[in-house]
Amino acid sequence: MTSDTRTFRVGVLGHGTVGSAFASLLPVHADRIERMTGLRPELSGVMTRSRGSFDDILEGSDLIVELIGGIEPARNYLLRAMRAGRHVVTANKQLLSQHGEELWDAARDNNVQLRFEGAVAGVVPVIRVLQESLAGAIIDRVHGIVNGTTNYILTEMARTGMTFDQALAEAQRLGYAEADPSDDVNGRDAAAKMAIIARLAFDTPVHLDQVRYEGIEHVQPDDLEYARDLGLELKLIGTAERVGDGLSVRVHPIFLYPGHPLATVGGPFNAVTVESEAITEITMSGPGAGGPQTASAVLGDVISAMIPPASTPPTSSVLEIVQDVVSAFYLHLEVADEPGVLAQVAQVLALQGVSVKSVVQKGLGDQARLVMVVHPVLESRFAGAMGMIAGLDVMRTPPRAIRVLEEEFG
Ligand SMILES: NC(=O)c1ccc[n+]([C@@H]2O[C@H](COP(=O)([O-])OP(=O)(O)OC[C@H]3O[C@@H](n4cnc5c(N)ncnc54)[C@H](OP(=O)(O)O)[C@@H]3O)[C@@H](O)[C@H]2O)c1
Repeated sequence: MTSDTRTFRVGVLGHGTVGSAFASLLPVHADRIERMTGLRPELSGVMTRSRGSFDDILEGSDLIVELIGGIEPARNYLLRAMRAGRHVVTANKQLLSQHGEELWDAARDNNVQLRFEGAVAGVVPVIRVLQESLAGAIIDRVHGIVNGTTNYILTEMARTGMTFDQALAEAQRLGYAEADPSDDVNGRDAAAKMAIIARLAFDTPVHLDQVRYEGIEHVQPDDLEYARDLGLELKLIGTAERVGDGLSVRVHPIFLYPGHPLATVGGPFNAVTVESEAITEITMSGPGAGGPQTASAVLGDVISAMIPPASTPPTSSVLEIVQDVVSAFYLHLEVADEPGVLAQVAQVLALQGVSVKSVVQKGLGDQARLVMVVHPVLESRFAGAMGMIAGLDVMRTPPRAIRVLEEEFG
C-alpha cells in the first residue's frame, strides 16, 4: 500500500458459510481491487451473535455486507446502514422478497447502493444482467432453475431410480442440502428468488406471498421412468411471465422436452433463461450456491459499489398478479384393468375441455397404469378434471399430475 492509498472499509454482519468465505476472500483480492478502483478494501469488523457491535461496525465502515439471513435483525441493520449513508450488499433472498420495496426506497432516499447478486442463483450474474445488460429489452418471460438442492435431487432420481428420500439423504451427505431442507424441497426458496427476478424483469412490485409454489416432495421414481419413455426431463422451474396485462410468477415441478435450454442443467447447478423479442433467448448457468461461490458474487457487488453509481429504479407500474394460467400436464393414473376405463377418463377430461396429446398404458395384474400428456389447458379446468377423476370408482390411488412445458427450442 502506498502512503496516499485511501482505504475502503467493509463491515461484515454474519460469519457463517458465506460470511466466513467472504472475510477470507477480501484480503486475497485487495491488491487487485486497489489497482482497479484506487481504493484498498479492508475488513473493518465482523459481527456474529456472540461478537462485535453493530454500532461500532457501522461507525467504522464505508460499506456493510449483510450475511446473517432471515428478516430481523437483518432488515433493521440494512435500513440503519443506508440511513447512515453506507452502501450495503446482501445475499438475503428472504428479506428482499418480502421487504424489497422498503429497502430499495431506502437506498434511493439515501443515495446509496443496495446490491444483491448473491441472493439469486449464487454466482450466476442474473441480477446484473437484468438490471444493466438487458435494461433495453422488454422481457416477456423468465424461466429459472434457481434451487440447486432440488435440481440435484431430481437429477439423481432420474439417473439412478432413487426415491425422493434417498436422493435427499445423498444431497445432505454431499453438503448440497441443509439439515433442514424444507424451504428448498417445498419450493419456497425458489419462490423467493423468482419474486426478486420478477421485480427486476418486469419492473413491478412482487412479494413472496404472490408467488404460487409447489415442491418436489411428491415426485415418484416411476414418474421419472415414464417421463423418460415420453422423452421428458423433470425440473423444478420458476416462471415469471406476462399474461395479458398482468404477470404470473410461480414455481413448480415441470417436464421439459430435451431441446429446452434448461433441460440439460443437471446436478446442483442453477440456470436462468430470459426471453424477449429483442434478444430472442439468453440462458445463464453456473453453480447456484456454496460459501466460496456466493462470497465471490458478494465480492463482485462490493467492487461494483466502490465504482459508483447504480441503483434499483422505482417501479414504473403495478401489474395485476395472475393466478390461473395455461399449462400442459403429465397425468399418472392407477386404475382397474377393465374395459371402458380409458373411455371414462377421456369423458371426464373432455367435459373439462382437456384434450390428450399422448398416452402410455401398462397392465399390472388387475390394475393398470394410464400415463398421458394432455395439451395446454387453463390450470383451474385441469384441477376440475383431476377432482372428477379422483371420484371415479375405477381409480385405485389418487391421480398424480405434473406440468409439462410444451415448447421445443433450438
Ligand atoms: N449458504 C449458501 O450457499 C448461500 C447461498 C446464497 C445465499 N445465501 C444467503 O446468505 C446469507 C447467509 O447464509 P449462510 O449460509 O452463510 O448462513 P449461516 O451459515 O447460518 O451464517 C449466519 C451467520 O449470521 C450470524 N447471525 C445470525 N443471527 C444473528 C444475529 N441476530 N446477529 C448477529 N449475527 C447473527 C450467525 O452468527 P453465529 O455464528 O453466532 O450463529 C452466523 O455467523 C443468507 O441470507 C442466505 O440466504 C447463502
